[in-house]
Order: sequence, then structure tokens, then C-alpha cells
Amino acid sequence: MKVLNLYAGIGGNRKLWTDVDVTAIELNPQIAKIYQDFFPQDRVFITDAHKYLLEHFSEFDFIWSSPPCPTHSRMNNLNYIKTEQGQKPKYPDMRLYEEIILLKHWFEGDWCVENVISYYKPLIPPIESCSHYFWTNFHFSPWKKQKRYIREHLCDMEDILAEEYKKLKIPNKEQIINNMVNSELGLHILNESKRNIQSELFK
Ligand SMILES: C[S@@+](CC[C@H](N)C(=O)[O-])C[C@H]1O[C@@H](n2cnc3c(N)ncnc32)[C@H](O)[C@@H]1O
Repeated sequence: MKVLNLYAGIGGNRKLWTDVDVTAIELNPQIAKIYQDFFPQDRVFITDAHKYLLEHFSEFDFIWSSPPCPTHSRMNNLNYIKTEQGQKPKYPDMRLYEEIILLKHWFEGDWCVENVISYYKPLIPPIESCSHYFWTNFHFSPWKKQKRYIREHLCDMEDILAEEYKKLKIPNKEQIINNMVNSELGLHILNESKRNIQSELFK
């Protein structure tokens, strides 16, 4: 199964996937390096995921995308810019909906787009699970609560690459961790897609 993992971060959603051939796209070279160390078997490209999706989507069987979430977040301070005149709002980043619409209309495989719970009513109804929104073209049963807290499941990743992680010089390091998808949920969603594909084959 050829999987495209867009906006890969350090691989929360990907951590427990097995028997898949993964291409990961991450723009930040330092984050991409950590991802590559965690998952040496994956192909990692340091490039713009939005552009990559448009040009390569047809080469994959399953696509996971986690587009940038700050401008959709309910955390108010992420949705405005401070100016001398006061606070000015930011536009929500519509790459999120561009990707959902592209995948829905053009991609023949299974796909999952993940984001935060937005401060506005979502333009396309998502499934809510473990404090994230998910848009998929297959059914999966959502989990209501985090099965494990992100920090717990991150610990082993931090331990393995503690030095690497400490060296990471990006302004909002904590945010990478907070944005990670629970790995068990990432596995659950991929498994549900595989199950749907198998039941289609036996129809
Ligand atoms: C929400 S995090 C991904 C979390 C990931 N799904 C996980 O579970 O760990 C989003 C990532 O997208 C990266 N990113 C932001 N803009 C990007 C772009 N245009 N192309 C590729 N990666 C980008 C950020 O550096 C960040 O690591």
C-alpha cells in the first residue's frame, strides 16, 4: 500500500503504521530530519505539501494530510495579528478546504484530512475524534476520548532522540508536540480504511 503522509511533522499519526510504503512531506528541514530518524524506511521530501499533493496524488493508494491549523484554532491569539492600532484578524488558511475538495473529487484511493476543532462551524462537516476534526471518504468509528495522552506516547519518541529533539531550534517547539495526532488513532484510521478496501474486494 503506497501511502502519502503530508505535513508529516515528527510522525504522530504514522508511528504505528506497518506494512506500508510511506512518502512523507515536511517543509521544515529540522523536523524532517527527526521524522527521517524515526522512520528511516520512509522517503522524506522537504518541500511544500500542498503543491506536492496536487502534482502527485494519483501515485498513491492512501493519503493522510494534516494541513497547518493555527488559523482555524479556537485559541484566539492565533487568529489575529497585533498591530499598533490593536488586533487585526487573520484569514483562515483555506488550503485545508482546497485539499478536501481536491481529494473528494479527483482522488480514487482512500484519504484522511486532519485538523484542529475550528472556532467557526466547519464548511464541510467533519468527524470529531480525540479533539481533532477528520474528513475521510470511508467510514471510521470515532473515539470520543484520547485513549492515551499525547505526552505519554511522545515520551518514548523523546527518549530515543532526546538529543535531536533538544537541538531543535524552532520558535514553537511545544506546538509540534501538541499538534501530534495520537498514534493509536492514526493506526485505527488506517486500519479502518484497509478494512473497507477488503470488504469492497469481497463484495
Ligand atoms: C500539525 S503538524 C503535523 C502533525 C502530524 N500529523 C503528527 O501527527 O505528528 C503540521 C506540520 O506541517 C509542517 N508544514 C507547515 N506548512 C507546510 C507545508 N507547506 N508543506 C509541508 N509541511 C508543512 C509543519 O512544519 C508541521 O511540522
